Amino acid sequence: MSTFLTHRTSWKIGAVAALTLAYLYRAGFTFSSTIFPFQTTTHDAPHVADMSTQKALYLLEPKGKFAVQERDIQEPGPGEVLVEIHATALNPVDWKIQAFDFAIKDYPAIVGTDSAGIVKKVGAGVTNVAVGDKVLHQGFFDNRRATFQQHTVVPAEIVAKIPPNLNFDQASTIPLTLATAAVGLYNDKKGGGIDLDAPWEEGGSNKYAGEPILVIGGSSAVGQHVIQFAKISGFSPIITTASKQNEAYLKSLGATHVIDRNAPLADLSASVKAITDKPVKVAYDAISFADTQNAAYDVLASGGKFVVVLNEAIEKDKITSDKEVVHVYGNVHMPVNREIGKSLYAKLTSLLEAGDIKPNNVEVLPNGLAGIPEGLEKLRKGVSALKLVARPQETA
Ligand SMILES: NC(=O)c1ccc[n+]([C@@H]2O[C@H](COP(=O)([O-])OP(=O)(O)OC[C@H]3O[C@@H](n4cnc5c(N)ncnc54)[C@H](OP(=O)(O)O)[C@@H]3O)[C@@H](O)[C@H]2O)c1
Repeated sequence: MSTFLTHRTSWKIGAVAALTLAYLYRAGFTFSSTIFPFQTTTHDAPHVADMSTQKALYLLEPKGKFAVQERDIQEPGPGEVLVEIHATALNPVDWKIQAFDFAIKDYPAIVGTDSAGIVKKVGAGVTNVAVGDKVLHQGFFDNRRATFQQHTVVPAEIVAKIPPNLNFDQASTIPLTLATAAVGLYNDKKGGGIDLDAPWEEGGSNKYAGEPILVIGGSSAVGQHVIQFAKISGFSPIITTASKQNEAYLKSLGATHVIDRNAPLADLSASVKAITDKPVKVAYDAISFADTQNAAYDVLASGGKFVVVLNEAIEKDKITSDKEVVHVYGNVHMPVNREIGKSLYAKLTSLLEAGDIKPNNVEVLPNGLAGIPEGLEKLRKGVSALKLVARPQETA
């Protein structure tokens, strides 16, 4: 698979993301530890293996090395489920945490926030899933809820059953990036979204029929989900930027027009105008480099709404009060995103079964959890329309 991100560009994304998450980290602690509840528990020291232990991939210290070690298997509390993880997908935030040290309070730390597996235990009051169900869910940045381990716990209200048309590897590609697309488009501004009506809710399907949308970076994992949501929301045309090699794939997901992302961004407005003469009132930048944000902002019409995934980097002299920019934080564990997370997860199985939401392309890493560090290095160098997936149960 060819790659398109240079080292330099990847590190640029990383630096911006680190600043973003450092900001969230500070905000979470300064204003409310419940808004962004980072890991606050004491160190959980590795244990000697026994029947109640499992393997986990620990980031041993800030900016340090990863190592597979034993630790206790968690017990689910009321409303929670214990999941035996069969596939966990890698995300840029995982290598950025190692490189820049943010979002983690205590080390050794477990990261990873995408899981597909089997329910092993349910806590009191859980009715939507049962022991033995195959499920997918998002994780969080604490050792109890992270996913680079063989078992994790998660609130049942943000868990969905995997339909038969998806395997564990495919299902694990979905949670984090789906949440980032869903929260950005459909949560309110307080929750980091632009408050569109969600297509999975009553009356939301095709609500935006005939309205154009611009998606920067359609072949990224986040961008693929934005395109798919845009399709079931009715947007048309769905205009995206990506490498031309991904054009057919993105059209299969719902994009109507794919602009070569290697063409000069100075031409983006003209390229969009050649596709539609309607004002573009919704844009989502799944890449959010300074240059892509500024080019998308130029395309956005008066009254338009714009989602960015990294810190806002729009030039001060072009910012106008008639365009709204929101910075999404795509995790459904957070209290501000929990309601939309619950409503999305209640419908997710049927969205997947119907093919409205499709998984990303998968490359399975060798050696279970031990294969993740090399996978993170590959992700840092850049992938194209691809998700790297590890199988924790295959750890030696
Ligand atoms: N705020 C949040 O909550 C949140 C959540 C998730 C992710 N993120 C951030 O969002 C970014 C994307 O994450 P991801 O997992 O979706 O990434 P990803 O899948 O690893 O991104 C790879 C893709 O990026 C595309 N790309 C790279 N540079 C581009 C450019 N200049 N224009 C258009 N496309 C470009 C490539 O497209 P081609 O191969 O087609 O060239 C490739 O398919 C990362 O920085 C990540 O940290 C933020």
